[in-house]
Amino acid sequence: MLEQGLKQLENELSISLNMTLTIASRFQEHMEQSLSGRVSSLKMFPSYLQAPNGYEAGTFLALDFGGSNARAAVVELRGAGNFLELHKLSRPLSDPESGRDYRAASVTAEELFDFLAGIIQEVLSNSSAHPTLKSSTSGPLPLGFAFSFPYRQQTIGEGFLLYWNKEVETSGVVGKDVGHLLSAALERRGLGSVVSLTAIINDTVTTFLTAAYQDPSLDIASIIGTGHNTCYLEQKAPGFEAPVIINTESGNFSDAPDTPYDQRLDLESDNPGEQRFEKKLSGKYLGELFRRIVLDFSQRGLFSGLNNPPAPARWNQPYSISGKDLALILLEEDSHSRLVPRDECFALKRIAHLLTKRSAQLVAASFIGVVRHLDPHLDHRHTVAIDGSLYKGMPGYAQELTVALSEALESKAGLVTVKMSAGGSLTGAAIAAALAKLDK
Ligand code: GLC
Repeated sequence: MLEQGLKQLENELSISLNMTLTIASRFQEHMEQSLSGRVSSLKMFPSYLQAPNGYEAGTFLALDFGGSNARAAVVELRGAGNFLELHKLSRPLSDPESGRDYRAASVTAEELFDFLAGIIQEVLSNSSAHPTLKSSTSGPLPLGFAFSFPYRQQTIGEGFLLYWNKEVETSGVVGKDVGHLLSAALERRGLGSVVSLTAIINDTVTTFLTAAYQDPSLDIASIIGTGHNTCYLEQKAPGFEAPVIINTESGNFSDAPDTPYDQRLDLESDNPGEQRFEKKLSGKYLGELFRRIVLDFSQRGLFSGLNNPPAPARWNQPYSISGKDLALILLEEDSHSRLVPRDECFALKRIAHLLTKRSAQLVAASFIGVVRHLDPHLDHRHTVAIDGSLYKGMPGYAQELTVALSEALESKAGLVTVKMSAGGSLTGAAIAAALAKLDK
């Protein structure tokens, strides 16, 4: 019975080579529809930034807010692809001890942005003794703000939040300019003349900038973490004379196959109908899909071991299983076979593996869509930089992604290189601030 259930699940979750190619061409269509002003699930936001040349230099402040943690640092860009991140601080958005969660709907925009401005203040006070800061304090320090949610901008220093995702719900931010909210919070802390918010950028773009600072051949960057999204260097963006980095907001892509589990998760999420690609594949949702599948197996009588699960989770509570729990299950050496029957322990692993593999295949299909848009006959080399906890931390993920790309690209697979770009958000935000300063 269990084996039959698993086989059926495998059929539902598997993505054939044909399907990969179909998803890739639909993704390309959605990109091109959006670029030409037609309705599409891809937003294709211009970042107002070109690629860096690696010689941008100076001292900058950087802030990164993407969902789980907020981080800030002073970043020294030294040119020739060299940089230093100094006085780095990271603060969780939720503190289990105090019960404070800045992502909750009960928290106001002012409270969230005061918290973010506070982190900047802390970095500044830790760094006031630092010689690099002393020597460059002739004017306010330029701040690059990596804000990893869908926002609309018409200049590099503004960002009107369209909607929250990744289950963040803080009140009073949707529809507002997060640049204005942050600047007002900096003013409240007396930092108005010390810091000047110069650039707001998405985390895919910061990943792009950091990787491209060292490797000018880079043309695509992606985050595969709590959320998922991809940006690339568009040569012919409407309204721009020079190439510009475009944030596709690919997490909202709507044309990939759904299982009933995906549909239910979407319907019961904070933002039904939105981010449907992300909800099939990113770290925020893989654990939740896993929980729903195992619960369903158990309700159908296929699975009995839920009272002693190998993951520390309450199976009836939504989002109680994280991407990290899945990684642990995949690494499990059958040590829980005392608690869960051996075949069920194996089944948990298999379900985790099927979800991880599908995630990597979907991402690979979207990359192929971008590459085909840039280079329809695949005549040139392309490099994709990837950051994010799922890509870095899920056992086997990077390999599944490479396998999916090589199967689909066949003899041209050697032209597409994928590389890990870890921890680039703060440096990327600083590079954005440097590029925005050059533009003025
Ligand atoms: C979500 C956001 C997107 C971000 C991604 C990765 O998809 O909408 O802006 O890049 O998460 O953090």
